[in-house]
Amino acid sequence: MRVLLFTGKGGVGKTTIAAATAVHAARSGVKTLVVSADAAHSLADCLDRTLGSEPVEVEPGLSAVHVDARARGERSWRALQEYLIGVLDTLGVDPIAAEELTVLPGAEEVLALLEVRDLVTAGDHDLVVVDCAPSAETLRLLALPEALSRYLELSLPVERRVLRAMAAGARAVRGEGVVPRPRDHVVEAAERLHAELSGVREVLAGPSTSVRLVLTPEALVIAEARRTLTALALYGYGVDGVVANRLVPADGDDVWRTGWARAQALRLAEAEPSFAPAPMLRAGYAAGEPIGPEALAVLAETLYGPTGTAAAQEVLAPPDLAGRLRVERDGEEFLLVVPVPAAEREAMSLARVGDDLCVQVAGHRRALSLPSALRRCVVTGARLREGELRVRFRPDPALWRAP
Ligand SMILES: Nc1ncnc2c1ncn2[C@@H]1O[C@H](COP(=O)(O)OP(=O)(O)OP(=O)(O)O)[C@@H](O)[C@H]1O
Ligand SMILES: [Mg+2]
Repeated sequence: MRVLLFTGKGGVGKTTIAAATAVHAARSGVKTLVVSADAAHSLADCLDRTLGSEPVEVEPGLSAVHVDARARGERSWRALQEYLIGVLDTLGVDPIAAEELTVLPGAEEVLALLEVRDLVTAGDHDLVVVDCAPSAETLRLLALPEALSRYLELSLPVERRVLRAMAAGARAVRGEGVVPRPRDHVVEAAERLHAELSGVREVLAGPSTSVRLVLTPEALVIAEARRTLTALALYGYGVDGVVANRLVPADGDDVWRTGWARAQALRLAEAEPSFAPAPMLRAGYAAGEPIGPEALAVLAETLYGPTGTAAAQEVLAPPDLAGRLRVERDGEEFLLVVPVPAAEREAMSLARVGDDLCVQVAGHRRALSLPSALRRCVVTGARLREGELRVRFRPDPALWRAP
């Protein structure tokens, strides 16, 4: 099962490219589901079909669905969020972690994520194409499973012990039957959500999932795409392609048109190396809005070539995972290699907070939970080279001897 997530700045053509990719795969014989995870839900307009919260067949081999977050409203995310803030406060969790909590996405977005996971794990399709919200929101969402897991791991064991002790105490004092079980249901909800979010991360950061960035050849759009690329890498998601969309065709002798075509080509040539090794595909500006499967199929052919077995094999092949976060050994020492493509040295900071390494790149923070071997080390240096942050850890004899 292959999963492709499409994101990019607002209005660049995410929905169009996601839908075109799905049509192309389906017409190549791949059983495909295209999912709209964006609350704006323009996928229906793009495919020119009425869509709902259950998958509908658009054409043979192609189904489409809008995830409906409200259908899962019973999960009481709000209560959980308040509970977490309370727990963090009681436990005196450090302000850095508390700050991260304040940027957690809202209930609807979280529920959409669970819905996407369910559609993927249902296993009814060979390819699931997800039309995501614009990059900033998508990033917040993709960072969530890991961030929330960390809080829950941090806060739940303690909280559960406290609750059990309280419940036992109350039983002793008041007798059976009238035992108040304060916030117990919330603890259960939190544990369930924790388990579910781990499942989400397994699916979305798994070896057969990749992200494709859609951009248009404009300076601001490219700048945002580069920041998104870095942040995705930091959160452990792999980008396996960039789609440059709405390129003005260079043919004809219209000065305005050839001028634009030349300027766009230059801009893309300049930007291309910052996305390497992810290939950059190019889609021309169609003469009209690409709406409906036929128009989308035409657009997709310019992107991916003809439909058929080769195209099916290509889209189903697992993404190249080289360049993800990893740990290397260097004699007695370790190197934690964090891929941060397109990162500028000035925009980066690094701090060790307990068992975590906090990396901040281009405005995005990630607390990397260190493997146990690295926890017993001291950080002796870090360098940024060829799109990789290499953090050096030396074993600390004092810590190695500790029980
Ligand atoms: N290659 C193309 N040629 C011509 N028109 C295009 C092309 N790609 C997208 N469009 C048009 O551009 C508009 C925006 O596209 P789309 O809705 O796919 O963008 P989006 O990134 O999903 O937007 P949003 O951020 O609002 O979700 C639509 O009207 C779409 O038909
Ligand atoms: Mg869209």
